[in-house]
Amino acid sequence: MKVPDYALLLSGLLLAPVDASTCQTPIDHPGEPFSYVQPLNTTILSPYGHYPAGLPSPKTKGKGGWENALARAKNWTAQLTLEEKSWVATGQPGPCVGNVLPIPRLNFSGLCLQNGPQCLEQGDYSSVFVSSVSAAASWDRDLLYKRGYALATEHKAKGSHVILGPIGGPLGRSPYDGRTWEGFATDPYLTGICMEETILGMQDAGVQANAKHFIAYEQETQRNPTYAPDANATTYIQDSVSSNLDDRTLHEIYMWPFANAARARVASMMCSYNRVNGSHACQNSYLLNHLLKTELGFQGYVMSDWGATHSGVASIESGMDMTMPGGFTLYGELWTEGSFWGKNLTEAVNNGTVPIARLDDMIVRIMTPYFWLGQDTHYPSVDSSVGPLNVDSPPDTWLYPWKFTGSSNRDVRGNHSQMIRAHGAASTVLLKNERNALPLRKPRNIVIVGNDAGPVLQGASNPDEFEYGVLANSGGSGACRFSFLSTPLDAITSRARKDGAIVQHWLNNTQITGNSMPSLWNPEQPDVCLVFLKAWASEGSDRQYLELDWNGNAVVEAVVKYCGNTVVITHSAGANVLPFADHPNVTAILAAHYPGEEAGNAIADVLYGDVNPSAKLPYVIAYNESDYNAPLTTAVQTNGTYDWQSWFDEELEVGYRYFDAHDIPVRYEFGFGLSYTTFNLTNLTATTPVATNLTALPEHRPVQPGGNPTLWDTVYTLTAEVRNTGTVDGYAIPQLYVGYPDSAPAGTPPSQLRGFDKVWLAKGQTKQVTFELMRRDVSYWDVVAQDWRIPTGGFTFKAGFSSRDFRANVTAALLR
Ligand code: NOJ
Repeated sequence: MKVPDYALLLSGLLLAPVDASTCQTPIDHPGEPFSYVQPLNTTILSPYGHYPAGLPSPKTKGKGGWENALARAKNWTAQLTLEEKSWVATGQPGPCVGNVLPIPRLNFSGLCLQNGPQCLEQGDYSSVFVSSVSAAASWDRDLLYKRGYALATEHKAKGSHVILGPIGGPLGRSPYDGRTWEGFATDPYLTGICMEETILGMQDAGVQANAKHFIAYEQETQRNPTYAPDANATTYIQDSVSSNLDDRTLHEIYMWPFANAARARVASMMCSYNRVNGSHACQNSYLLNHLLKTELGFQGYVMSDWGATHSGVASIESGMDMTMPGGFTLYGELWTEGSFWGKNLTEAVNNGTVPIARLDDMIVRIMTPYFWLGQDTHYPSVDSSVGPLNVDSPPDTWLYPWKFTGSSNRDVRGNHSQMIRAHGAASTVLLKNERNALPLRKPRNIVIVGNDAGPVLQGASNPDEFEYGVLANSGGSGACRFSFLSTPLDAITSRARKDGAIVQHWLNNTQITGNSMPSLWNPEQPDVCLVFLKAWASEGSDRQYLELDWNGNAVVEAVVKYCGNTVVITHSAGANVLPFADHPNVTAILAAHYPGEEAGNAIADVLYGDVNPSAKLPYVIAYNESDYNAPLTTAVQTNGTYDWQSWFDEELEVGYRYFDAHDIPVRYEFGFGLSYTTFNLTNLTATTPVATNLTALPEHRPVQPGGNPTLWDTVYTLTAEVRNTGTVDGYAIPQLYVGYPDSAPAGTPPSQLRGFDKVWLAKGQTKQVTFELMRRDVSYWDVVAQDWRIPTGGFTFKAGFSSRDFRANVTAALLR
């Protein structure tokens, strides 16, 4: 086999030498570089080349303040038998979605791992918080921290040691991805901040966070291999999709938020289902050992996604530390007993294939965050009520005799509802507001329309059943069990009664679009029609379209024929095309995303002006579906084992970066959102002079969690004056975008978010905001130097209120 020149391959400068005579099947075993080879019947070459092996797997040193916990974890590990070590690294069926067996002789009651990002998935008497896309739309660091903290207190009270979240990917390369709502923003910088704040909140509450899914996991379609229906279900018909991307894109887009997660000292990371450049993400030594554990200095443990483990020794050597769900494994859609690890791991150590030192490091990595967070003392036991709610390993699959102590059906909600209501309002983006439609001023005749306005009538387990009811969360492992759900219909009706208003409602979309609208309002033209529409998206499949569900566009068309003041509210996973947005009778539009259990009260607070909206879009709303780039790979024409490929050829042109690079008009841009007041931004000024000794490449200080600490040093600070120029008080969200100098390599996006703040301003008030730029913020990933480089020449720093609304610029070179 021809050995490639790795530096060149990494730089993307060398094409993989591919022709029919050199065709190889992908090799995942560490030590043997993987060569992506197209199927024989295609002629496309891989521009992304090979990954060199990243071996051996580095040991954790407990850097970043974990040193004492590390010492305790080492002592603890030293007391384990080999079998015990194998089983700490291998999950078992049990009450939680992931379980590590107890070791009673050491007083260790095991580890309970639970989903997910919006709630405790398997939780009765627990809260449903705002979804992650909602939280991102708030652009509010404090909200993100408090949400993470409160969610974790509920998990802890139910006995979870690890929350399977937050989500740094999917990032939303394509708006069709089914899980964008479980993650934050289609922007690495904003997602990075969201990751960091959420992790800090969760871990301050004493629960381990899990940053998932590492990495380039950007579609649900073929995320797992298709297996032959044979007895042990291990033969692939076709392997999982491969996300094929270059080194610069990997660093500047997809790895970026995981660097923030490592910096926040996240306890664990989850490797993803997809392959990356041909090699499974959970057995790719370059990704896990080199990038994650070495370059980003990640000190915790890597766990597999459920069923993403495809090998024993290879995944262990490649840096995976824990396999989930372990003893009972998901192959495609099938659950099968047995594991690549477990007993096989014991045997691999006994026969010398896996060094015991590697297994010891795996256990030390798993247990260090446990001791660091004090989970060994007075930690609540697992609530027995979570077990029967476990769809992944229901009680009849449990092999171990799990025992439960402590009370059952614990109510862990506290007073979180109040906070969730405020967060829901703070996450609602006002997209259009004309003729002073909002806030409502004591309307006396209100019509509520749409099947998203009322109570859930048929359960919420899949979109076909979910015709009636407000969509405040969605499906998959991020699904939640509501202990109650405030509906728009209830909240607006009770609010309207205080004003002595009439509220009529019409919730059947089929009937509404069937032309029977005029009979709806009586006796006169309503003051306002509030139309509630929704869009479902869920793990396991991608979105088929970006229109609103249940004929949403036709519902609006039916209403606007008769109602001159129509306000449309969407509960949706993310981007929707809104063809009705220009209709003169559509006076206002709000994107409320998935706001959790207080959906109704939160939207009423915004509609009635108790809360002045301040949220901003964390993605782009285009005019047409066809305007979006980066289509998912939804089918392959051939049946070769490795034929599922997703080419990230758009490189850095993800989300708004693409629309900006090609001057494509958009309906609502990234960072956009209205308020009931108006703001201005002036006097953008650099307050720190450029350091005379700033070097293009960073000084190499010892790596800490998050990577080279020099990357996180502030190198340039700007301030601006923000003024509330309107008539009511409210929050402004000033944003800073950076345009790189021409010397940056081709493909550098015209504008990239690198700073934002959320400031309260009374009407007429002015405040100063500060944007601190770190070295990483003004660097690009130099694929040849394999380092972050500040380019020479003038940067343009653009401050304003969205990615297309800049109010002030500063141009400056950072290198002398
Ligand atoms: C698969 C999902 O991708 C992951 O996010 C989740 O945590 C696990 N299943 C466990 O349910």
